[in-house]
Amino acid sequence: MERTFLAIKPDGVQRALIGEIISRLESKGFTLVGLKLVKVSRELAEKHYDVHKERPFFPGLVDFITSGPVVAMVWEGDGVIASARKIIGATNPLNAEPGTIRGDFGVSVGRNLIHGSDAPETATREISLWFKDEELVNWQPTI
Ligand code: CMP
Repeated sequence: MERTFLAIKPDGVQRALIGEIISRLESKGFTLVGLKLVKVSRELAEKHYDVHKERPFFPGLVDFITSGPVVAMVWEGDGVIASARKIIGATNPLNAEPGTIRGDFGVSVGRNLIHGSDAPETATREISLWFKDEELVNWQPTI
């Protein structure tokens, strides 16, 4: 079964949107198999955002993601990587459709509330960066 990594960023936590965000993914029918509140180290932040390390916004991105608690999650389900990206909305909340998380709650690309893996390889890499195997729970809904 496909899995993806999602992280509610410090702005989502500060704005008390944890429940709202989790609810949207639960309501859709995806299964939460990993969940923890993390104070992100600079080392983890720099590894997670390695692909952006040459971008001018990289230092600010690392400062921000390490500034407060992050909710790290692994979600499971058929097509969950692409579907979660749709539920999250466009990277810049000003371009995100109403009805998406960023479209409904965000106005700034640097404060876009949540990160979601963009492809299967990224999901595998990010899940293993943020979670140990034993922190993930293998279960299937029975209803
Ligand atoms: P995320 O999905 O976490 O992946 C990389 C992040 O970089 C992205 O969300 C944005 O929060 C951030 N980002 C992308 N472009 C910019 C930008 N031009 N200025 C500041 N932050 C950006």
